[in-house]
Amino acid sequence: MSTTVGIAILAAGKGTRLKIETPKALVPALGKPLVDYVINEGIHFADTHKVKSVIYAVIGHQKDLVEDSIKSSFPDQVKFAIQKEQRGTGDALKAYLSADQECSQTDYTFITCADAPLISDKVYERLYQEMLQDTSLQAVAASFVTEKPFGYGRIIHQDKGFKIVEEKEANEEEKKVKEVNSGFYLIRTAFLNEQVNKLKNTNNSGEFYLTDIFADSLSKAITFSDGRQFQGVNDLIQLDEVVEELSRRKHEKLMSSGVRLIKASSSYIEWDVEIGAGTVIYPQAQLFGTTQIAQNCTIEANCTIKNSQVGPKNIILANSYLEEVVTQNDVQIGPFARLRPKTILEEKVKVGNFVEIKKATLKAGAKASHLSYIGDAEIGEETNIGCGFITCNYDGAHKHKSYVGRNCFIGSDTQLIAPIEIGDEAFIAAGSTITQNVPSEGFAISRQKQVTKENMAKRFLKKKN
Ligand code: UD1
Ligand code: CA
Repeated sequence: MSTTVGIAILAAGKGTRLKIETPKALVPALGKPLVDYVINEGIHFADTHKVKSVIYAVIGHQKDLVEDSIKSSFPDQVKFAIQKEQRGTGDALKAYLSADQECSQTDYTFITCADAPLISDKVYERLYQEMLQDTSLQAVAASFVTEKPFGYGRIIHQDKGFKIVEEKEANEEEKKVKEVNSGFYLIRTAFLNEQVNKLKNTNNSGEFYLTDIFADSLSKAITFSDGRQFQGVNDLIQLDEVVEELSRRKHEKLMSSGVRLIKASSSYIEWDVEIGAGTVIYPQAQLFGTTQIAQNCTIEANCTIKNSQVGPKNIILANSYLEEVVTQNDVQIGPFARLRPKTILEEKVKVGNFVEIKKATLKAGAKASHLSYIGDAEIGEETNIGCGFITCNYDGAHKHKSYVGRNCFIGSDTQLIAPIEIGDEAFIAAGSTITQNVPSEGFAISRQKQVTKENMAKRFLKKKN
């Protein structure tokens, strides 16, 4: 019979020390819930080793929220065990083992915490190999040595195996021990079934410590030299450390796939952001959510891009802000452009400085190079929008649409009072307030005739002595 493995992800805790509303498992690091990183590595391990596995998240505090979030990221791969009261990690394991028969019937159980998102599938693999090699072992735990052991369970080696002493239980000597428990284990399920029911909560915190099961077992602590990967998130300072490490990994991944990050450490790029080879990202980029940037783009300094799709060979000049924007190839944006949701820029569009666009499509080759507001609008191919153009889309109660056809010339300082339609190849003279539709090839002008009086300026100019 093939080996079966259970992966129990402990995610029922409240995360009191974080002092924020969001349940700890869902706290985002680089735009993704902590628990998602943990689940990904579990799935990755099971897939690459072709081990038959069941993955459970033990949930409790705000369980509906946690369950919904996990289901939306991993629709079929994760099941749930409910821990009614958060009475400690040992109690969480009880909840897991009794969630379904399949949990207590696997050969081995991996245990990992939702608040340790940096553990890679290599750690799974190492513990797994160790366990397969030594059939006498009942459990293996991953440990590491740190100069800051505060808060971690200390690994105390003894004649037979080791025991784990929690911070709250440790005496002065034990507190000095620098080898600590990572909270990541692989345990024979038969042994686990037997031991969890023997756990007692007669300790300083009144919790059932899972870590107590190691004291009388044939177990081994495997010490990893890179302790960073076991960083847990118990407070906002540790969250920042984790984000720092994830950022470093993300940047390395991008650079090794051919993305040039200039002064990488100055940019914030969320985990799910995709960037094509040949693209150059200048300092202080902030790229959020599901943003995808295609190949060979240039993103100048200090641009913010959220949940947008940027086409190939775009140039986004410094200080531009894009949110839910879609662009095709060879588009140029900015500097200082603000593109709001549902902006679509077709190929070779040019949007210049201080242009705001919302819910509007600029068709291929259209240009709005300076100081404009384009909202609820469609601008046709190759149309040129002059400086200071405004779609007056709001009448105080409702939003209305503006349509401008292809190949038009829209003079500077023009307002379109929506709803309105301008046909193809129309010409609107500068300084016009357009309230009526203009047909294709039409010319429209709407401004006061100029009055010029000779020698009259001095009446209005202050006298200079
Ligand atoms: C735990 C270990 C400690 C180890 C450290 C590594 C215990 C008793 N201690 O301490 O030895 O050094 O992790 O980071 O296990 N949880 C539940 N239900 C509960 C309590 C906790 O699901 O009733 C979950 C939490 O959501 C969290 C994980 O278990 O994801 C660990 O709990 P936490 O309170 O963070 O344990 P630590 O104090 O960090
Ligand atoms: Ca922890």
